[in-house]
Amino acid sequence: MTQTKRTILKVFIGLVVIVAVVAGVRLWQTLDTSRSNAANDSVTLSQFKSDDLEAIKRGQYVMRLGDCSACHTSGNGYMAGGYEVKTPFGSLYSSNITPDPEVGIGNMTERDFFNAVRQGQGSHGFLYPAMPYTAYVNFTDQDMHDLWAYFSTVAPVNHDIDETQDMPFPFNVRLSLAGWNMLFFDNEGIEPDPQQSDEWNRGQYIVDGGGHCSACHGPRNFLGAEISSLYMQGGNLGEWYAPDITSNPHQGIGDMSKEQIMSYLKTGTDGIAVASGPMAEAIEHSTQYFTEEDLGAIATYLKSIPASEEKAPHPALPVTEKMTLSYEVNCSACHGLEGEGIQGMAPAFTNNNVIRADDPTNLIHAMLKGVRAAHTETVQTAAGMPSFAWKMNDQQVADILNYVRNSWGNTAIEVTADQVGSMRESLGARQKLTEAN
Ligand code: HEC
Ligand code: HEC
Ligand code: HEC
Repeated sequence: MTQTKRTILKVFIGLVVIVAVVAGVRLWQTLDTSRSNAANDSVTLSQFKSDDLEAIKRGQYVMRLGDCSACHTSGNGYMAGGYEVKTPFGSLYSSNITPDPEVGIGNMTERDFFNAVRQGQGSHGFLYPAMPYTAYVNFTDQDMHDLWAYFSTVAPVNHDIDETQDMPFPFNVRLSLAGWNMLFFDNEGIEPDPQQSDEWNRGQYIVDGGGHCSACHGPRNFLGAEISSLYMQGGNLGEWYAPDITSNPHQGIGDMSKEQIMSYLKTGTDGIAVASGPMAEAIEHSTQYFTEEDLGAIATYLKSIPASEEKAPHPALPVTEKMTLSYEVNCSACHGLEGEGIQGMAPAFTNNNVIRADDPTNLIHAMLKGVRAAHTETVQTAAGMPSFAWKMNDQQVADILNYVRNSWGNTAIEVTADQVGSMRESLGARQKLTEAN
């Protein structure tokens, strides 16, 4: 071997060693569970019954901040799991997290519970990030102790869940999630920012922690991890689109007042938009129960999120006489002749960002399957929108949506019949009854 070759080899080996050491340190940091030392490791959940009423009450509130029941309650009993989460890698079912010792989490100690909720290490190994531990990692020790106290009061349900039964090989191999965590999981809770007010810090704690808002509102990469440079700039969930909620006044919520944001999260409407789909669920199960202070904190924090890049307005698409007529016949009774809606019941189409969003998923969804607004303690009559799948073909649905997206001052890119057709198929919506009209 020549001198140069030897030098190259040495440098190469040196590099390999460095990479291995860095990867090892990173892996160790990602999987480190020493934060859970704050928890008790001797009593299991099925043996434990908290008698601290205040802690239980606080824990119930933390459960609502985290919206645990939205994913863990699904017809099998409260917190008994079985909710299907569709991922690009197959369906995953949420776990039974009642204190049942056989099929629930009754054999977990408080420490195991901390590891599962904040670190993504559950009773069968690494958890899939569909369980939002990447946000719950921000929960404080105090909130976790209270959550544990609350779960000790949940009734055990003996219903077995096989979380990965519909996940094909190799995606059902949990060990691969160690690699995912190494790439994407930040195993440290957020620290309050001393430059910001207490209210702002509380807002960030809820939004990025329990609220896991960016789990829906943030775009993800092909491995299912949130793209941090596009924080809150809108995420497509397949059947729904969670819009941009940065402070951008056109695409985001910059033009919503603090009061409007609070009202939307409390009642499901801000007077213009009416929440549907997964947001209606989040409001029903979770945000309607938040205190005024917490809702105010969320609004303050959201309004401080750096605006997404401003897009040039789209040129208006032409609307025809036929479209206008179809709108008046089919939609105006609820959405108003001028797209003004019925306050608090049917959304207005003017000044409504979701209506003009580049991604029309929610609009097509509403047309094909109908939607129901959130049922909350403040707004008890959850208004409904009927399905038009039986009445309109793909082109007719596209036309009427292009009409509302390009009238009364709105401008937006075209919705195509193909987009409607593929959603009709994926939603399993019915076809138009006859092609006569
Ligand atoms: C967006 C849906 C979603 C939300 C919200 C959610 N979970 Fe989960 N959770 C899941 C899924 C899916 C699994 C199964 C993951 C797996 O098996 O890899 C799971 C698993 C778990 C496990 C692990 C159980 C075990 O036996 O290993 C625990 C504990 C848990 N969740 C607690 C909670 C708590 C507490 C909350 C609220 C603070 C919560 N979850 C909110 C979807 C969710
Ligand atoms: C499970 C997914 C999901 C989660 C979690 C979620 N959202 Fe949403 N959000 C949506 C969807 C979908 C919409 C659009 C609803 C519609 O079209 O009516 C929406 C709409 C909104 C809007 C209205 C935007 C507008 O321009 O009208 C606000 C504000 C909002 N969400 C805030 C939040 C906050 C704050 C959180 C966390 C506490 C949160 N969301 C958590 C899915 C979600
Ligand atoms: C009987 C009353 C009624 C009629 C008729 C009606 N809608 Fe709706 N629509 C509603 C209600 C109520 C909602 C809100 C439901 C929700 O938020 O879940 C809604 C929601 C929507 C949404 C979803 C907005 C969002 O936030 O994602 C769209 C788009 C929509 N309607 C379009 C139309 C069009 C187009 C027509 C005519 C073809 C029409 N609607 C006819 C009552 C109606």
